[in-house]
Amino acid sequence: MSLTGLFLISFLVVHLMGNLQLLKDDGGMSFNIYARFMTSNPIIKTTSYLLYATFLIHILQSLLLTLKNRRARGAQGYAISGAHKEVTWSSKNMGLLGTIVFFFLVIHMKNFWYEMHWGAIGESTYDGETYKDLYTVVRFAFAQAWYVALYVVAMGGLAFHLHHGFQSAFQTLGLNHHKYTPAIQLAGKAYSLVVPALYALIPLYMYFA
Ligand code: HEM
Repeated sequence: MSLTGLFLISFLVVHLMGNLQLLKDDGGMSFNIYARFMTSNPIIKTTSYLLYATFLIHILQSLLLTLKNRRARGAQGYAISGAHKEVTWSSKNMGLLGTIVFFFLVIHMKNFWYEMHWGAIGESTYDGETYKDLYTVVRFAFAQAWYVALYVVAMGGLAFHLHHGFQSAFQTLGLNHHKYTPAIQLAGKAYSLVVPALYALIPLYMYFA
């Protein structure tokens, strides 16, 4: 789970960089050009298949681990849990937080990813080249208050999921050292705050601007 988690953590940064093009005041030109590049470049397309497989493995493994843990200790929980390590709210609720992110992803993929690949969306022309107008699809979605609220709440769930997941991934891989662990924990805290906040900023900005 740590390896797939770290791959997803790096994906989130790349995806964010692309989505920040939505904030440019150019009628969606940069974003539409970027979206076409991301869905037509053969190397990126191949990486996308790896990404889908990574999401599936991460989700399936979390389900299998939960089942295994339940079977191992029956219906009875631990009398004292986490006596030897720091137990945060996020570490105790990773299943719930992961489920929030999962439901977000289902809605997200249906409305944006499916639309981009198979939907009947409009086109825009820049410098004589025609592009799918994914920007208008996103702008329409983020013109609805409930949709913006859904994204903001889901990004809250993602923030807490990453708050535990980031440093836990390093710990699971055995990268635990008195010299580096504080730096990893700090990087994890910064990442889990800044990345979801910037993701949440996009729908908020597009709704209010
Ligand atoms: C404001 C927040 C976000 C916006 C505006 C956004 C926008 C988009 C758009 C327009 C697409 C379709 C274009 C494409 O297929 O490349 C897409 C695809 C995708 N998004 Fe997002 N996204 C956001 C947040 C997220 C988050 C937080 C996650 C993960 C937890 C995520 C996961 C994905 C995945 C897995 C794909 C498919 C990528 C691929 O096919 O390679 N997105 N997103």
